[in-house]
Amino acid sequence: MNKTSMILDVDTGVDDAYAVLFAALHPAINLLGITCVDGNTHVDQVVANTLKVLDAAQAGDIPVARGATRPLLGPSQYAEYVHGADGMGDLGIAPSTRQVDPRSAIELLRDLIEGSKDLVTLVPIAPLTNIAIFLRAFPETAKKIHRIVLMGGSTSAGNATPVAEFNVWHDPEAAAIVFSSGVPITMYGLDVFMRPGISSQEASVLKSSSEPSAQFAGQLIEAFIERLHISPLTLGDYGAVVAAIYPELFTTQMFDVVVDTSSGPARGQTICDRRDDFLKDLEPLGLENPAKVRVVMDLDVEAVRQLWLKTIDKGWS
Ligand code: RIB
Ligand code: CA
Repeated sequence: MNKTSMILDVDTGVDDAYAVLFAALHPAINLLGITCVDGNTHVDQVVANTLKVLDAAQAGDIPVARGATRPLLGPSQYAEYVHGADGMGDLGIAPSTRQVDPRSAIELLRDLIEGSKDLVTLVPIAPLTNIAIFLRAFPETAKKIHRIVLMGGSTSAGNATPVAEFNVWHDPEAAAIVFSSGVPITMYGLDVFMRPGISSQEASVLKSSSEPSAQFAGQLIEAFIERLHISPLTLGDYGAVVAAIYPELFTTQMFDVVVDTSSGPARGQTICDRRDDFLKDLEPLGLENPAKVRVVMDLDVEAVRQLWLKTIDKGWS
């Protein structure tokens, strides 16, 4: 299998951790670097959490850079109710001894993309503030991005609000800039986000593994099953990473999409025109200046689950 050169943009966060572990460990991914953004928790905490996760993957040489401290316009709105005050379930996980990269997130993005011998796949699994700023600051480098496979949005219900998904809702203006950038976008949103999950029994097996990555993941999953009282627990953001390298496991559809940046009740909604073509012909009033987005609408859940388990724990059977 060819390697995919990839950069993650994260707000680590428990499900970001599952994605980072997979991207750092899977042999088909050349993880060039990780940029951190304000989202689930403050960006400095995101950096600290991301370094801890890379330590668990024994992937210490991957650069991690600090990005935006808040959304482009609005205030920070953390998701402590899900991820805890520290973004990782307040488990008291030991801090990493590694240092954050001295470059800012957008400088690291520029340098990694310019320095890559092949086209880079960008996988943002957080609010899109860093990516929007990068696209505006380095438009020539942005042209070298192969594609963006992002976790965000929804063609149906929201989670942060009745209609808006958290990553887009946290910074709708940034999302609008990214969606309308012209870079090919695959949207891994709430239509599939909750489906690949890990049970408490599987978490227990991971915890007893000899592999640090499996022990770390098992501990996180078990803690969040207890915290959120749900099992199986979704692997969340991880789905966007695996969709970038195993597209055959996912069913997608192209939709016209615009991001609602109003201040009304739909703020942060990814409005997708899902009308049948005959209706769109009859009622030509469509969305104004929509982005043509490839939206993930279904997946092979068991294959996606097993890929994660066997990557995080090589002895998994
Ligand atoms: O809506 C889900 C998204 O919000 C995920 O990226 C999760 O980490 C949170 O940031
Ligand atoms: Ca996230």
